[in-house]
Amino acid sequence: MSKPSVYVARRIPDQGLELIRDVCDVTVWQEELPPPREELLRQARDCDGLVSLLTDTIDGDLLDACPRLRVVSNMAVGYDNIDVAAATARGVLVGNTPGVLTETTADFAFALLMAAARRVVEGVDYVRAGQWRTWGPLLLLGVDVHHATLGLIGLGRIGQEMARRARGFDMRVLYCAPHRQEEVERELGVTYAPLDDLLAQTDFVSIHTPLTPETRHLMNRARFALMKPSAALINTARGPVVETEALVEALRSGQIAYAALDVTDPEPLPADHPLVSLPNCIVTPHIASASRATRGKMAEIAARNLIAGLNGEPLPAGLNNEALGAGRNALPRAW
Ligand code: GLV
Repeated sequence: MSKPSVYVARRIPDQGLELIRDVCDVTVWQEELPPPREELLRQARDCDGLVSLLTDTIDGDLLDACPRLRVVSNMAVGYDNIDVAAATARGVLVGNTPGVLTETTADFAFALLMAAARRVVEGVDYVRAGQWRTWGPLLLLGVDVHHATLGLIGLGRIGQEMARRARGFDMRVLYCAPHRQEEVERELGVTYAPLDDLLAQTDFVSIHTPLTPETRHLMNRARFALMKPSAALINTARGPVVETEALVEALRSGQIAYAALDVTDPEPLPADHPLVSLPNCIVTPHIASASRATRGKMAEIAARNLIAGLNGEPLPAGLNNEALGAGRNALPRAW
């Protein structure tokens, strides 16, 4: 009996890949960089399923160029790289990997917050540059995290975990979100504030919102102007939620004190980009979910989504299970 054919757009942990290999004919893109668009189109053209990464753009043109594709399984929680409406219109199922990366991502966001507050990276650079000659009473003074105020933009799964971590440091936590979450407010002791008020009151602003038309450039010149000059911005969500030029200006002029970014726009940042060399900015290469255990679990969920879709079943973490049995998913399977 033939097996469904699947393209996996990068090497992923074996925990997921083995599950896929058991039931599919698999081609895996082996390079470090994502497959160029032409290559992705060429490889996925005759495939029944695709495992995509957040670096792959999955739009209507790709779905039309790959008429056999029934399921796209994104190994990420964010899916702004996928036109889900275009997939639904064609009866292509789409899945993501929520839940398993929540705490790991919040751990990293908190690590960035701590690193910004206490100038950890500057300290390491200083030692590596051979500049450490004595204990200095004024050397690399930072700000306290404990008892400071944290402002969360977004109070979804990751935002809530961030609030839990902040409680351990006796921080006051404000949040803004499209809707008030009174039950979560009670459970976590967080307080709702409209975005502009939150920005004016907080020492650390941490972004935990998906990238949507509404959140693109949410942090812009006008918003940086509302922040305290002593405040730091943490972004582990998506780069374009922040207007890059405005952030560079805010950091250069002292409008805000610090930024710690795991995501950027563009991504990756060119090595000569101002955000890379500004002393009051830390940039990491989009690794907030990158613990071995979590990436293994993400690969496993991506595999389970893919296989469910190929079997004509609802995806365990589906974004459009309503597409089941419609469009391409209504056609007989070739395996
Ligand atoms: C990472 O950014 C993800 O969306 O999983």
